[in-house]
Amino acid sequence: MIDVSSLNLLKGKKALVTGVANDQSIAWGCAKAFQAFGADLAITYFNDKAKPHVEPLAREIGASIFMPLDLQQEGQLERVFEKIAEKWGALDLCLHSIAFAPKEDLQGRVVDCSKDGFLRAMEISCWSFIRMAKLAEPLMKSGGALFTMTYYGSQMVVEHYNMMGPVKAALESATRYMAAELGPKGIRVHAISPGPLKTRAASGISEFDKLLQKAQSKAPSRSLVSIDDVGVAVAFLGTDAAKLITGETLYIDGGYHIID
Ligand SMILES: NC(=O)c1ccc[n+]([C@@H]2O[C@H](COP(=O)([O-])OP(=O)(O)OC[C@H]3O[C@@H](n4cnc5c(N)ncnc54)[C@H](O)[C@@H]3O)[C@@H](O)[C@H]2O)c1
Repeated sequence: MIDVSSLNLLKGKKALVTGVANDQSIAWGCAKAFQAFGADLAITYFNDKAKPHVEPLAREIGASIFMPLDLQQEGQLERVFEKIAEKWGALDLCLHSIAFAPKEDLQGRVVDCSKDGFLRAMEISCWSFIRMAKLAEPLMKSGGALFTMTYYGSQMVVEHYNMMGPVKAALESATRYMAAELGPKGIRVHAISPGPLKTRAASGISEFDKLLQKAQSKAPSRSLVSIDDVGVAVAFLGTDAAKLITGETLYIDGGYHIID
């Protein structure tokens, strides 16, 4: 990882990071970079089963807030923001690194996906980012930045990405609308589009290894992306140096998306 510990570009900033499942999670790469840049962290974990995997990581980066967040549990997201309001009174950075689709729907054709499966994927992977922005807005009194994670399969038909394609397309569009709406308050909104990474969420995508091989051979960089590459780029976008960058879908993919 690039040594940014002396930069302190996020010193004193308060950051909420959701979506850490383990030390392979993209959210973990972002949490480490936020901390290395000097931010204070709030970390969430999915449920009691996930807690023992996430707790040592939260401890490692000295997170001052550590709370459960299952987006399908009524009121849990609101409680996270209530805690932040009570403890910090403000929020500067908010990372949404969460996606879900029922396996039977994800692994079939888009044409065949069920209404319930599609709506569940949209609720957890897209609507929740809109809701997070709504809850973050009053806490971002001096401006701030909101981030979500997307993928190239939103723009192009990527084999086996299936119904997550339209879901991520909606997420990217919501990002642009929210960036326009919140911009006058100094709040930036970005979708981050990393190349494929071997994480738990990725294991739900059929033949993911082939996607990795293709990414490595086709990307101009000829290399795969790491969670630290993503983390450092996101942390930079959270700094004041990036205060006039908003509404982006930022590809961190070694340039894969520019190649035919
Ligand atoms: N891995 C990749 O190749 C890749 C590429 C581009 C974008 N992304 C996106 O990055 C994000 C993070 O995924 P990851 O690859 O780090 O995998 P991951 O499995 O480490 O993270 C996914 C997270 O979503 C959480 N989650 C799922 N359902 C939830 C719910 N109902 N409530 C709260 N949390 C819930 C999980 O607990 C987990 O922490 C996702 O949006 C994914 O689509 C991944």
